[in-house]
Amino acid sequence: MYLSFYGLREAPFAPTPDPKFLFQSPRHREALAQLIYGVRERKGFIVLTGEIGTGKTTLLRTLLERLDATTPVAYVHNSALGIEGLLEYILQDWGVKSTASTHAQRLFELNEFLIDQHRKGGSPVLVIDEAQNLSVETLEAVRLLSNFETTSQKLMQILLVGQPELRDKLNLPELRQLKQRIGLRCHIGPLSPEETRLYIRHRLRIAGATDAGIFTDAAIQRIAEYSQGTPRVINIVCDHCLLSGYADSKRRIDAAIVQEAVEYLEEGERREWKRRRSISLVPSQGAVWAARSGVALLVLVIVFLLAFAANALGWFAGTHP
Ligand SMILES: Nc1ncnc2c1ncn2[C@@H]1O[C@H](COP(=O)(O)OP(=O)(O)OP(=O)(O)O)[C@@H](O)[C@H]1O
Ligand SMILES: [Mg+2]
Repeated sequence: MYLSFYGLREAPFAPTPDPKFLFQSPRHREALAQLIYGVRERKGFIVLTGEIGTGKTTLLRTLLERLDATTPVAYVHNSALGIEGLLEYILQDWGVKSTASTHAQRLFELNEFLIDQHRKGGSPVLVIDEAQNLSVETLEAVRLLSNFETTSQKLMQILLVGQPELRDKLNLPELRQLKQRIGLRCHIGPLSPEETRLYIRHRLRIAGATDAGIFTDAAIQRIAEYSQGTPRVINIVCDHCLLSGYADSKRRIDAAIVQEAVEYLEEGERREWKRRRSISLVPSQGAVWAARSGVALLVLVIVFLLAFAANALGWFAGTHP
């Protein structure tokens, strides 16, 4: 791998939502502050939306790291579950030894757990990531879960996180009751070209790079253009660039390397294969000259051998008495 070549401790552009790498653009900072505030102030329903790959899960993980370690968190990321599956999963994640077999029994167990937590001063958090995939019925059932409350406080905080389709879903007339209960909403978007530059540098620095200029300004400009500021796409392109740069022993990633990575991502064509193909279809000048010289040398050797053999057999001697 390219790590030691570029003086890195770890991969700077891994695809995982690792909070350690969180880059706080003004919108990410604002959203994180709102999420922390919403959970601490027990706002009940909180909704975080954002385009694909803009950092919602990374923000969530950061939020969870910053919560009090004793806060029970149930993190659901399989939004294909219906309400029964969801309830089962939540109870298990909160460590409730469930013996329930009906919906009512599950709700009862949940109520008991929440009251117990309330007595201890806790406020459990339920996170549903990728919530744009939840059906309208499941979303409505989740709303009913938010009815667990005392006269003054919600007994659990529910975070719905998803792509912009979630916002559209919450605007459906069938879900207007849920919409009314949302205590806080935040939205994150893509990075600007300048933020893209800072993002790339930030991730390189966290990964241990001492050289801030591994990517040239022109390279970053091309990455910003291609990725449209979506962090996941930036990561994929940058990772390819570092791999290519390393293969060509290039300390600086320039716009040409980025272009090659972009073409690879667009066409899915392997770089090595492309190279081999170009060698076989278009031989270099050197190769052409080498081939020509080889053939000429071979002809000379054959002529020499023929002459030598003819002389040895006395062919020429017989013609001159
Ligand atoms: N603000 C950020 N700081 C650092 N890395 C980020 C940031 N935003 C996104 N990333 C990186 O981009 C990739 C995608 O991020 P993440 O999974 O959080 O996006 P998402 O919005 O949850 O995507 P999806 O819509 O597919 O659920 C991850 O590798 C993550 O580390
Ligand atoms: Mg996500």
